[in-house]
Amino acid sequence: MVSFSDNEFSDLGLYITNEQPSQVFVLVDKNTRKFCLPLLQKKLNTKIPTEIIEIKAGEKEKNIVNVTRLWETLAKKNADRKSLLINLGGGVISDLGGFIASTYKRGIPFINIPTTLLSMCDAAIGGKTGIDHDFYKNIIGTFSLAEKTYIYPKFLETLPFAELRSGFAEMLKHGLVADASHWKDLTRIKNLEWQNIEPLIKTSVKIKERIVDADPREENVRKKLNFGHTIGHAVESLFLKRKNPIPHGEAVAMGMIAETHLSYLENLISKEQEEDILTKIIFFYPKINIEIFKDIEIYNVMLNDKKNTRRKINFSLIKNVGNCIYNQPASKSNVIESIKFYISL
Ligand code: GLY
Repeated sequence: MVSFSDNEFSDLGLYITNEQPSQVFVLVDKNTRKFCLPLLQKKLNTKIPTEIIEIKAGEKEKNIVNVTRLWETLAKKNADRKSLLINLGGGVISDLGGFIASTYKRGIPFINIPTTLLSMCDAAIGGKTGIDHDFYKNIIGTFSLAEKTYIYPKFLETLPFAELRSGFAEMLKHGLVADASHWKDLTRIKNLEWQNIEPLIKTSVKIKERIVDADPREENVRKKLNFGHTIGHAVESLFLKRKNPIPHGEAVAMGMIAETHLSYLENLISKEQEEDILTKIIFFYPKINIEIFKDIEIYNVMLNDKKNTRRKINFSLIKNVGNCIYNQPASKSNVIESIKFYISL
């Protein structure tokens, strides 16, 4: 369940008072320890023992070594099944922390307090947890819902522009796959500043919650949320392999451009519709240099996408703004052409 907090996660204190966890662990990185933890500490019940666990910031921290280290930390501190883990941070913290909480002692409760736009609108909602392995993004993970997610948009005030733009890509995706009027509102924005984005966060969250409630384990409609992610994840993984990670949203924007063109090649949208969508995405996102990879290399990574079944790549493609269809096969030649199309822009 997602709570909006204009008032500094007002009911977190109440949650802790009601649930009386045996201990509280707060997972932070260097940035959220400095900028966000002081605010949270005001809400914690001082009678309940609280430990802060810090990891380094960045996607490369979502790895099995950190998982082992954090399981050991919990064990050394005698965390039991009534212990609560609070994930205070962006997508790395909620993915990693959610994975640790959902596996330690077969699962302890956890709360997400997202501090980036990406995690507020996407990563911290819907119960996907996980880590990267052998450069494949989120290839190990669980579906496990947070007890609660508290969204406090004022955290965005201190968020760097690149992070804001990264999260905005997931909001654009929500509009494209599920809500034409949200798409219209988002694409009216001229400057990506948190004050302009903030009024639209709630709609994105509601869209994601509605889809996740209908299909929590991604058996059908939740697949719509993978639009832009099939090609985008492959590219993101290849950058990760080169130890040069790019923001998730930049990869998703790239993927949405290529997969919009693929929707056109698969005769799902007209050239006019394609151009209209692309102009709007390109307005916000500079081109990424993917020429450093061979198109077949990108395609081969896609063959190992965790959403595939029987070695078939399943795409989610656009049928119109606000309408997306999933489980769409596409010919290899059209996929390669979509990648080439992006390069040609
Ligand atoms: N990020 C897509 C999903 O949660 O399903």
